[in-house]
Amino acid sequence: DWTMAGYREQAVEAIRAQVGEAKVICALSGGVDSSVAAALIHEAVGDQLVCVFVDHGLLRKDEGAEVVGMFRDHMNLQVIHAEEQERFLGALEGVSDPETKRKIIGGLFIDVFQEQADRIEGARFLAQGTLYPDVIESVSFSGGPSVTIKSHHNVGGLPETMNLELVEPLRELFKDEVRALGRELGLPAHFVGRHPFPGPGLAIRCPGEITREKLAILREADAVFIDQIRRHGLYDEIWQAFVAILPVRTVGVMGDGRTYDYACAMRAVRSVDGMTADVFPFDHDFLSETANRIINEVRGINRVTYDVTSKPPGTIEWE
Ligand code: XMP
Repeated sequence: DWTMAGYREQAVEAIRAQVGEAKVICALSGGVDSSVAAALIHEAVGDQLVCVFVDHGLLRKDEGAEVVGMFRDHMNLQVIHAEEQERFLGALEGVSDPETKRKIIGGLFIDVFQEQADRIEGARFLAQGTLYPDVIESVSFSGGPSVTIKSHHNVGGLPETMNLELVEPLRELFKDEVRALGRELGLPAHFVGRHPFPGPGLAIRCPGEITREKLAILREADAVFIDQIRRHGLYDEIWQAFVAILPVRTVGVMGDGRTYDYACAMRAVRSVDGMTADVFPFDHDFLSETANRIINEVRGINRVTYDVTSKPPGTIEWE
């Protein structure tokens, strides 16, 4: 009989057998997948695991400190916090094409990770939180011929040229199973229950050119939207929710004055594995209350829309 406790034991044994006395490095993204992979590998080989958290400047509000704090203090893992915000945002200046953005971020991510890895003596293995759906979606889409919809940057997609062997203890699992395993391993429930967050981060929620100003506005608006969802007890009913900032300013009125600020879109979907998704049916009061809060609390936004596109034909992210 298959149980999560059984899976955990078996996975721990398999990791020990594969890794032996060598060192494992793991790119922590703050997402559930890499977090659970790290916790599992830490259980198997303890301080032979060194995690690298690359801060690309495209994280959500307070995310970097939360993730590093939790892994270092709560879980006792060795974590290197690579603060490379300037490097990523610099390289993205003036870039608006979605695939180019993804390639720049993915490429730099590899460079940074490689630099960190080179400093860790005796590293022979690379841990990745690859899930079963990642394995399939990169191969085919809707059962049809192999088509690349978006070039996925996963903390997954690290290069073969690194000369490290892969440790991928989650390859057989779906997202809900990864969450169950995370709880089994003692990760805090609120952390394990977090919505997925893509490797390229806020970059793909900021269509058009990425600027520090837009990122700052986006972070605040996103935090208000998520706060609303939590206050209304809806967080766990939603697969993923976020705000995207639109590359357009529109006219509004505030008090006696005219405003000319950014528009944003709220996105919230239900899904089982991210491959298809339905729009979350918020009631109207929730939507207008949230729109009011965003406009009142976030400087730089004067118009809020709700994205009602399912996947397909839309994708979950905006780029
Ligand atoms: P889309 O936008 O393709 O997203 O419908 C499906 C799911 O995948 C996540 N996503 C990514 N995750 N690297 C990741 O690690 C990526 O490059 C990436 N692109 C999309 C997205 O957040 C959603 O959960």
